[in-house]
Amino acid sequence: MTFERTILITGGAGFIGSHLLRLMVNKYPQTRFVNFDALTYAGNLANLHDIESKENYIFFKGDITSPSDVNEAFDKYVPDGIIHLAAESHVDRSIEDPLAFIRTNVLGTGVLMNACRQHWKDNFEGKRFHHVSTDEVFGSLGAEGFFTETTAYDPRSPYSASKASSDHLVSAYHHTYGLPVVISNCSNNYGSHQFPEKLIPLMIRNIIQEKPLPVYGEGINVRDWLFVEDHASAIDVIFHKGIEGETYCIGGENEWRNIDLVKLLCKVMDTLLGRPDASAEQLITFVKDRAGHDLRYAIDATKLATELGWRPSLTFEEGLRKTAEWYLNNQAWLEEVTSGSYQEYYERHYLNR
Ligand code: NAD
Ligand code: TYD
Repeated sequence: MTFERTILITGGAGFIGSHLLRLMVNKYPQTRFVNFDALTYAGNLANLHDIESKENYIFFKGDITSPSDVNEAFDKYVPDGIIHLAAESHVDRSIEDPLAFIRTNVLGTGVLMNACRQHWKDNFEGKRFHHVSTDEVFGSLGAEGFFTETTAYDPRSPYSASKASSDHLVSAYHHTYGLPVVISNCSNNYGSHQFPEKLIPLMIRNIIQEKPLPVYGEGINVRDWLFVEDHASAIDVIFHKGIEGETYCIGGENEWRNIDLVKLLCKVMDTLLGRPDASAEQLITFVKDRAGHDLRYAIDATKLATELGWRPSLTFEEGLRKTAEWYLNNQAWLEEVTSGSYQEYYERHYLNR
């Protein structure tokens, strides 16, 4: 079969990448998608079972920090576009081991952009590099205000600083070499297939197992939650219709204090598990706060709505219920991803907290 074009998606075996591939592979049968992923602890090919036999899907095991892996994939598949999601993505791990984040998120992004220049020979007609980033690059808000595309960068964790550095590199390659880029900065995602080191799947797993629910500090930190399939649809719109050189903020218009979110999730889980009211809530345990814990993130996604017509599709209650149901129906997945080094991470991070 011949394809009209080839898009290489990095980090496609991870949480957001697997949702993006599922959307794109089904929606664009004339385009070939190459999933370039190193399969770190966060990458899991089981996330892609339903599309792995599609003709327009290929998996390539490679590390973005390795020029030879990246060049091999470019030589073999000659991609016209890159959507770059591969990253170390968990703030708590970045506090434990910042260099891993600098290596993957900064160096890895540089290696990819160098490969674009080299293989596209600085002839960028019909080419595009979409860099998928986070709202955490903008730092922390007080009680008021929102992040927009013009907010000054002020990253405060090793994770957000490494993502901010990668954003700056991508902008620099655009301004210096004319690399045709778009950048998107999204708020916190939730949904199926998220590794249970992040708040929502961690709490769901602990509720199922009737283990303590570790809320950092007083639980007053605020995040703006977006259903992962809505993030994937926003990336689709920005990759295809976004203006070259522009940045787009993506958010859920859905702010929650952690403690309120965890209490809502407890209610949803009690209902789904058929347990008496307030069973899960009794498991809430306040633990030592995260170092440098950003107080509040919130996105104003007006630009994306007015210029490209994108809006979130679900209410939080609908999305949270769908998400909880997925984890309950896929406990084998949860067991599989938590069977390896996860136990060690969990004990190191939460015991004695
Ligand atoms: P994830 O941790 O679930 O997945 C990351 C994927 O990247 C994994 O499949 C992993 O194997 C792969 N990877 C890691 N290092 C690699 C390397 N050196 N070479 C090749 N592949 C490598 O992450 P996620 O939550 O899906 O996030 C994806 C992207 O979206 C990241 O860039 C993240 O910064 C950004 N983002 C995430 C969120 C969120 O809430 N999760 C919000 C906004 C932006
Ligand atoms: P997380 O899912 O790690 O995303 P991020 O730090 O990128 O926003 O955490 C979301 C919020 O939940 C954050 O304020 C930290 C908090 N949190 C807890 O209170 N307990 C936990 O066990 C985890 C993982 C996070």
